Amino acid sequence: MNTSDVQAQKRRYGIVGNSEGLNHAVDIALQVAKTDLSVLITGESGVGKEIIPRIIHDNSLRKTKKYFAVNCGSIPEGTIDSELFGHEKGAFTGAIGEREGYFGAANGGTLFLDEVGELPLATQARLLRVLESGEYIRVGSSDVRKTDVRIVAATNVNMAQAIRDGRFREDLFYRLNTIPIKMPALRERGSDVVLLFKKFAMDTAEKYNMPEPVELTEAAQEKLKKYPWPGNVRQLKNVTEQISILSPDRTITPEILAEYIPDDPISHDIVPLAAKRNETHSFENERELLYKILFDLRNDVTELKKLVHAQQAGNDMPVVQAPQVPAERPVAYYRPDMAYPAHRSESKGDEDFQTPEEYVEETVSLNDVERQMIVKALERNKGRRRKAAADLHISERTLYRKIKEYGLDKEDE
Ligand SMILES: Nc1ncnc2c1ncn2[C@@H]1O[C@H](COP(=O)(O)OP(=O)(O)OP(=O)(O)O)[C@@H](O)[C@H]1O
Ligand SMILES: [Mg+2]
Repeated sequence: MNTSDVQAQKRRYGIVGNSEGLNHAVDIALQVAKTDLSVLITGESGVGKEIIPRIIHDNSLRKTKKYFAVNCGSIPEGTIDSELFGHEKGAFTGAIGEREGYFGAANGGTLFLDEVGELPLATQARLLRVLESGEYIRVGSSDVRKTDVRIVAATNVNMAQAIRDGRFREDLFYRLNTIPIKMPALRERGSDVVLLFKKFAMDTAEKYNMPEPVELTEAAQEKLKKYPWPGNVRQLKNVTEQISILSPDRTITPEILAEYIPDDPISHDIVPLAAKRNETHSFENERELLYKILFDLRNDVTELKKLVHAQQAGNDMPVVQAPQVPAERPVAYYRPDMAYPAHRSESKGDEDFQTPEEYVEETVSLNDVERQMIVKALERNKGRRRKAAADLHISERTLYRKIKEYGLDKEDE
């Protein structure tokens, strides 16, 4: 390892830490930069994967050419092929003009495919082709085009599992993984965590014009090193910012630290979303997280609707307990005759109510979301319903009922 080169790169990109794993990752990036080999960066969420492709590009022979970073997980499935490979005018509804696509635009340069594990299978096939032959076809075209793009990809999903589940092509994995770079988890980096805390404390003090940054006692430093940091550097950054802003004491003891990083990381609300995602090992990507939010939202909306309907009905009519409400949520009441207010001929101010069609449409799409959530939770927990229910924050009984409702039990057979 050329230590001085590694140190210089870390300074250049503001990378803090001196652990072996981190230095090794930067070193490999430097060594492969001048080649055109594909690189796959792996590591848990929040470990700092995104800086590596930049180091590779800036130190490569392509450094004067284009560099694009594409987050594969955030592009909708319907448009990802067109974003990556371009499309012809009129290729699909709404394709008013033609589009070059990243593979065309990055010709001669580097393309960073972040969250590559999220690519749909059809796109994976196209990607394999362009990696193997440099050839690709725009959506809606039959002309084969050529491009010369160096691919650096990153993922925080377990690729071996994704391959076993049939979600990721094995041949593509080997093609991308020509040079693997593993970013170590923060808990594997020893005293780097203390150095990073100091950096983030100084950054926050500067940003908010604080007279001095917070400092850790020796014992607090030890606590920081022992904490598992499921959300890695991103979580540490958030925690340091929170402490810097909220703590009236500027010398941070283990007791003060404990308010922000308790022994049981899972139960703590202040742990940021991204960290939580990892702690529960539940949500491998943003899409799933979104499903989860929609799932909870759907339950809340259903309950609210029932509550509102019951209140509008007044107290003179019999009220029955909603059979659909999961036991662990606050009990809401509804009246069967008020379930579809738009049907009521005497009702006033009906413009606020949905038409039955709207109601049905919304319910159908929300059902899809809910079904999807359940399928994913079952997959994640290898069919173990008790764990899946805990994952979804619903009772086992509710899960059983919903599995039946969506006919998922039949799919098992
Ligand atoms: N060694 C480091 N020194 C300074 N800052 C760092 C370091 N590692 C990570 N960071 C910072 O931590 C944050 C998270 O890093 P990054 O976005 O690269 O994570 P990631 O590995 O891509 O995570 P995900 O898989 O969730 O996308 C960023 O703000 C980044 O700048
Ligand atoms: Mg990232």
